[in-house]
Amino acid sequence: MDSYSIALIPGDGIGTEVVEAALVPLRAAAGKHGFQLDETTYDWSCDTYLRTGAMMPDDGIDRLRAHDAILLGAVGWPARVPDSVSLHGLLLPIRKRFDLYVNMRPHRLLPGITGPLRKSAFDILCIRENTEGEYSGAGGRVHIGTPNEVAVETSIFTRTAVERILRFGFEQARKRTGRLASVTKSNAQKYSMVFWDEVTDQLAAEYTDVQVSRYHIDAIAARMITHPETLDVVVASNLFGDILTDIGAAIQGGLGFAASANINPAGGVPSMFEPVHGSAPDIAGKGLSNPIATIWCGAQMFEHLGKADAAADLMRAVASITTDAANLTPDCGGGAKTMDVAKKVADAL
Ligand code: NAI
Ligand code: MG
Repeated sequence: MDSYSIALIPGDGIGTEVVEAALVPLRAAAGKHGFQLDETTYDWSCDTYLRTGAMMPDDGIDRLRAHDAILLGAVGWPARVPDSVSLHGLLLPIRKRFDLYVNMRPHRLLPGITGPLRKSAFDILCIRENTEGEYSGAGGRVHIGTPNEVAVETSIFTRTAVERILRFGFEQARKRTGRLASVTKSNAQKYSMVFWDEVTDQLAAEYTDVQVSRYHIDAIAARMITHPETLDVVVASNLFGDILTDIGAAIQGGLGFAASANINPAGGVPSMFEPVHGSAPDIAGKGLSNPIATIWCGAQMFEHLGKADAAADLMRAVASITTDAANLTPDCGGGAKTMDVAKKVADAL
C-alpha cells in the first residue's frame, strides 16, 4: 500500500482543533483509495516559543524536509507572542527555505453555503507569487524619528520568479477552462508591472490554447464582486494576490472555507497546506471552528501527492454535507461542533 509521510503542525488556537478534526475524513479518504498517511506531529507553536525561546528547533527545516507534505493549522497567539515573532519563526522560514513559490487558493461556494454575493456560480483559482515582489523585504529607514524620516521599500521582480508563477498559472488554466487572468497595475507601475505584462505575452505565445485577459488590480478586485463568474485562473503578484484572496475568501462564505496550498512544483521538498485563517483566539478551545477549510487543504494535498481521485472524492463528500444547515458550524449559521462536521464528511465518504 502506498504510504505518504505527512508532517502535521497543528500550531496554536483553533489550528490544533481543525487539524485534529480534518484528519478524520483525510484518513478515511486515504483508506478508501488504498493509501496510508504516515503522520508525524510537531508541536511547534507559540507555547513552544515560550518554553524554549524558538518557534521550532534549529534543525526544524531539516526534519520537515524528510516528509512528503506538511499540513499546518494556524500559528499565532498575539496576546503572548508578537505576531512578527511567530510568523518569522515558523511559517515564513518554511515557505522560504523550501522555495514554495506558488500560493494557490480556490474560491467557490460549496452547495448550501450562501456568500455575501447574490450570485453563486463562480469557480476561481487564485495563484499568488509567494517569494518576492512587494514582500521581498528590500528596504530601509533613515533619519528615524526626525521630521526628515524616510522609509523605502523596493519591490523585486525577477524573470525567474515571474515566469515560473505565470507558467504554473498557464498549466492550471489548461487543466481547467483554458482562461487565465493576469493581474498588474501596469498603467501606474511602469517598470515591474510592464515587465510582468511582457512575460505574460511571451508565455501566451507558447500557450496558444489559453485565453489570456489582463486586468489591473483595482478593476479585478471590483470584478470579483460584480462578475466573479467571468474569472477562472487568476495569477497575481505577492501583494495583489494577498488582497484578492481575501476577497475570494469573503465571497466564498468566509475564512472557514478558505484553503491554501504553498507549493514547489519542482518537488524534492515538502509542499505545505494550510487554511487561510489564523488561530482565532476568540473562539479557540470551544469546538466552534469550521474545519472545512482544513479538509479542503487536505484535498489539495492529496491532489499534489498524485491522488486526484481521493481529492475529488473528499470534496464530493464535503459538498454532500454542506447542504444541511445542521452540519454547519456557527460561522455559517449552524450549531454543529468542529468534530461533528469532520465526522459527517468521513461518514459521507
Ligand atoms: P483569524 O483568522 O484567526 O480570525 C479572524 C476571525 O475569523 C475571528 O473572528 C475568528 O473567530 C474567525 N475565524 C477564523 N477561522 C475560523 C474558522 N475556521 N471557523 C470559524 N471562525 C473562524 O485572524 P486574526 O484574529 O487576525 O489572527 C489571530 C492570530 O492568527 C494572530 O496571531 C495572527 O497572526 C494569526 N494568523 C495566522 C495565520 C496562519 O497561521 N497562516 C493566518 C492569519 C492569522
Ligand atoms: Mg492575506
